Amino acid sequence: MPTALVTGGTSGIGAAFARRLAARGDDLVLVARDAARLESTAAELRSAYGVEVEVLPADLSVRDDVTRVAERLADQARPVDVLVNNAGFGVHHRLTDPDPAPHERAIAVMVEAVLVLGGAAGRAMRERGHGAIVNVASTAGYLAMGSYSAIKAWAMTYSESLSNELAGTGVTVTALAPGWVRTEFHERADITTSSIPDALWLEADALVAECLADVDAGKVVSIPSRRYRALMFAVRHAPRSAVRAASRRLSSSRH
Ligand SMILES: NC(=O)c1ccc[n+]([C@@H]2O[C@H](COP(=O)([O-])OP(=O)(O)OC[C@H]3O[C@@H](n4cnc5c(N)ncnc54)[C@H](OP(=O)(O)O)[C@@H]3O)[C@@H](O)[C@H]2O)c1
Repeated sequence: MPTALVTGGTSGIGAAFARRLAARGDDLVLVARDAARLESTAAELRSAYGVEVEVLPADLSVRDDVTRVAERLADQARPVDVLVNNAGFGVHHRLTDPDPAPHERAIAVMVEAVLVLGGAAGRAMRERGHGAIVNVASTAGYLAMGSYSAIKAWAMTYSESLSNELAGTGVTVTALAPGWVRTEFHERADITTSSIPDALWLEADALVAECLADVDAGKVVSIPSRRYRALMFAVRHAPRSAVRAASRRLSSSRH
């Protein structure tokens, strides 16, 4: 049976990946901070899908914890065939706030950990000649909404570069760029969502199903749903001054 390691596999998009991968028969390794929630998620998945689920409690803002997860990915005796670099959270702190800590934590979890885990998985998978890496970026990466946009833009470019580096090795890399998805994300980050139209909300299970179809097709960038593909086509072809103005309006609706 293939094995998939999902960071942030206890909630929202990561939990949807865990369910979908388990449903197709993959064994799982789930990574998150909350050990009790990891155990209960693992128990539910074992009983619903009959797969093996290992839990690996880790805070991906802590380098020693990231190293432990990287060692698990490097262990050729227990190969991991799919890595989903998904753990993350919203950051809507201003770039001029005196305390840079929230931005630094976000960079640690959504840039540094992704880099270390992607490298460890890429090396191990390349040696075996197959594997898939999914990095959860965001459509916010096409906008200019603070450090979150910058971080997710990094995730897009990083994924394209890693895909180039691993081309021809049997290892695929896909950046997933979701629009707004109903998860715990907005409440955890204290982000107001009342002004977001219903039509722009995506469901995590449908999003993940589309993403995994894109992974199977070898796509490097996955933007689930027609409406977000159309929107992002417009954003990518609009003048950057217009994108900055739209980003400013969106950001101010949140403060
Ligand atoms: N929801 C959206 O609208 C949306 C849109 C675009 C992109 N995304 C991206 O999708 C990814 C998943 O977000 P979500 O919406 O599913 O959020 P969520 O429901 O809040 O889930 C976040 C998951 O990440 C884990 N996590 C958070 N900080 C962690 C840390 N320091 N170390 C290890 N695990 C950590 C959480 O578990 P613990 O708290 O137990 O650690 C949880 O399992 C993120 O990368 C996010 O940026 C979300």
